[in-house]
Amino acid sequence: MIQIKDKEFVPFIGKEVIEERIKFLAQQINTSYQDKTPIFIPILNGSFMFAADLLKKINISCELCFIRVSSYENIQSSGSVKQLLGLDKDISDRDVVIVEDIIDTGLTMREIINELNKLKPKSIKIAALLSKPTAHKTPIAIDFIGFEIEDKFVVGYGLDYDGMGRNIEEILVLKHSSPGI
Ligand code: IMP
Ligand code: MG
Repeated sequence: MIQIKDKEFVPFIGKEVIEERIKFLAQQINTSYQDKTPIFIPILNGSFMFAADLLKKINISCELCFIRVSSYENIQSSGSVKQLLGLDKDISDRDVVIVEDIIDTGLTMREIINELNKLKPKSIKIAALLSKPTAHKTPIAIDFIGFEIEDKFVVGYGLDYDGMGRNIEEILVLKHSSPGI
């Protein structure tokens, strides 16, 4: 049992299992992009560990550019609009692989794809370590997927609970988790 702030977490996906799965994902990506030079775009902060371990196993020529998604209030259109920060490479006519920690509702990924598409890449594919299929609110085709999990709150291996736990080298699940949290 691991305590993070006010919550109790228990082991869920161990580091050897994660490592094996990432090896497999990297093989899939190496094969798919054999004669190409994709740009990997991991989303900070959550995907830093996954991206590092995945990229170590990628043996094709490639580029890397971490980005961050920030929400800001738009006074014209009501509601928050997502903005991509840190994209300092020209992705027009390039093969892009978005690297994300987890797809929950899928709304963040949908906005990222919409924003990146405006820059006219040749292709966009998604590598996600985790997905919660029953929580998806928009259809997202995940091309390279680590683990499909139930709609439970997880932490570790880059994922946080209230800013904490990103450094843990395995994935933990909230002890008494139900959909939503
Ligand atoms: P979405 O827009 O609902 O798909 O949420 C995506 C983001 O929410 C992810 O990139 C994570 O940062 C965060 N998130 C979703 N589920 C979890 C979880 O179980 N643990 C930690 N963070 C999560
Ligand atoms: Mg994230």
